[in-house]
Amino acid sequence: MAEYERYEHDVLVIGAGGAGLRAAIAAAERGARVGLVCKSLLGKAHTVMAEGGVAAAMGHVDDRDNWQVHFADTMRGGQYVNNWRMAELHAKEAPDRVRELEAWGAVFDRTPDGRILQRNFGGHRYPRLAHVGDRTGLEMIRTLQDHAIHKGIDVHMEVTIVQLLKDGDRVCGALAYDRERGRFRLFAAGAVVLATGGIGRAFSVTSNSWEYTGDGHSLAYAAGAELMDMEFVQFHPTGMVWPPSVMGILVTEGVRGEGGVLRNSLGKRFMFDDIPDNYKNQTADNEEEGWRYTQGDKTARRSPELLTRDHVARCIQREVREGRGSPHGGVYLDIAWIKERIPKAEEHIKRKLPSMYHQFMQLANIDITKVPMEVGPTTHYVMGGIRVDGDSQMSTVPGLFAAGECAAGLHGANRLGGNSLSDLLVFGRRAGEHAADFAATKRGGAASSESAATEAIRVALAPFDRGASAGAESPYAIQHDLQKMMQELVGIVRVEEEMSRALTGIAALRERAKRVGVYGNREYNPGWHTAIDLEHLLSVAEAVTRAAIDRKESRGGHFRDDYPDKDPAAGAFNIVLRKGGGGEMQMERRPIPAMPQYLKDIIEAQKA
Ligand code: FUM
Repeated sequence: MAEYERYEHDVLVIGAGGAGLRAAIAAAERGARVGLVCKSLLGKAHTVMAEGGVAAAMGHVDDRDNWQVHFADTMRGGQYVNNWRMAELHAKEAPDRVRELEAWGAVFDRTPDGRILQRNFGGHRYPRLAHVGDRTGLEMIRTLQDHAIHKGIDVHMEVTIVQLLKDGDRVCGALAYDRERGRFRLFAAGAVVLATGGIGRAFSVTSNSWEYTGDGHSLAYAAGAELMDMEFVQFHPTGMVWPPSVMGILVTEGVRGEGGVLRNSLGKRFMFDDIPDNYKNQTADNEEEGWRYTQGDKTARRSPELLTRDHVARCIQREVREGRGSPHGGVYLDIAWIKERIPKAEEHIKRKLPSMYHQFMQLANIDITKVPMEVGPTTHYVMGGIRVDGDSQMSTVPGLFAAGECAAGLHGANRLGGNSLSDLLVFGRRAGEHAADFAATKRGGAASSESAATEAIRVALAPFDRGASAGAESPYAIQHDLQKMMQELVGIVRVEEEMSRALTGIAALRERAKRVGVYGNREYNPGWHTAIDLEHLLSVAEAVTRAAIDRKESRGGHFRDDYPDKDPAAGAFNIVLRKGGGGEMQMERRPIPAMPQYLKDIIEAQKA
């Protein structure tokens, strides 16, 4: 029998970013014994990359804002393939979740009369993002972490899950290894919450750090859950492009929210050239009005740099492709120009965007208070994920819940900036509560899964057996080839022929992955860890590619050069993927449930 340490929890939360922490707090407050698994150290999460703010219609800066406007903005940004129930719950509950965070110690920037300050962000009609300079995600993680550790939660750091375990249909735990010693752990649990974040590491240019290999998506899929909307990947318009070692690191949209503008090599503000019809009546068509908007003039329309991310990213790519880019393949993002408009602009920039100032100073030797930054699109977020029930966040596998980025639905075809932080608060809490309630009816578990655990351990250790054999493949080489291929063939602009080549390429990489070999011992062995992550990366890459081939239209984050328009018929379905009996990826177009009349009325009223 294989060796592992055994742990018992009522609720096992996998992933310790904002969604995982919020779920763990909620489950513990329901009386559940909670285990929280972090792939790296507690507090190191992609949540900190949502820098510019958390979206919540509190109406502190513009009292015309309310949940209905936030709901309508989220649906329009997601181009109406969102789970409307999630969009409704999110818009209604986000303000309470933000106020609760403040009560737990988060220190937000303030309005002159002492309320939480809110800033403009792409696609949000009114200033809606509660923020802490450009460190909002970091402040949220700090607050949630402080709160969570006082709830008696067992934290398992540097632990990676290799497989979910099931008892019949229901999930009853997970098998993991710890990075430090390379030993296995079996977690028995009444319910499991996946909060593993995104898939950015399937691409070569990304804001995501090494942990984000689609683990939750792939673990859930392997356990029989459905994935949905995987074609919708968000390329954030502004990542660093230079120097090469920092390519992809996020440059917050908060820069544009504070008045930063995008220019091409001719010095032209190219965003004025292409304003989509459905945003025309709300978007400024001249510099003066755009500036007044960023300064809080309620009569002005949004500046075009604050159109949705999918659109801005494509406009940047167009400028670069057509030869109007910056020397290192991006465009210019200029915040320094505001010194023409306001006194003490340098101090203002350092106060509002302290991380950006230091990031560019230290990593690129650029003073953003004086000169423009060079920026370009970076893989930032996946709207697709595990298909869940909107209210409870339970997947189609009983006892398996998902929250935050690894869950699908809320954001539809394109996420608005700042909606990720409110998403993880609203749905992290819901997932934790419902998981605790589920676990209370189904205690314990994993006993019947010991043979599954033994087999999972054998598979996980197999790369060591092949380490020295002739023809063994390097995990790093396979990972690199996959990232490069996804970037080139399934990136911002897609065509069928290239994606079909990617699909063939993924199958070839799967064959190579069967021969992957690693050396050394099990303690802190990054080659071994990369080998284990490969299965996740390959699964999510295949899911993205298959769904992207099937969606023959352009919508949100999914742009097809061969189908550049939206197809109204395609707006009526989600693409759902499931693992077939023979291990094949099955795909289905699933009609979006009809929206209730009161929500339709809200959307119509906002359009008017
Ligand atoms: O640009 C940003 O600060 C990112 C925010 C987000 O992804 O929500």
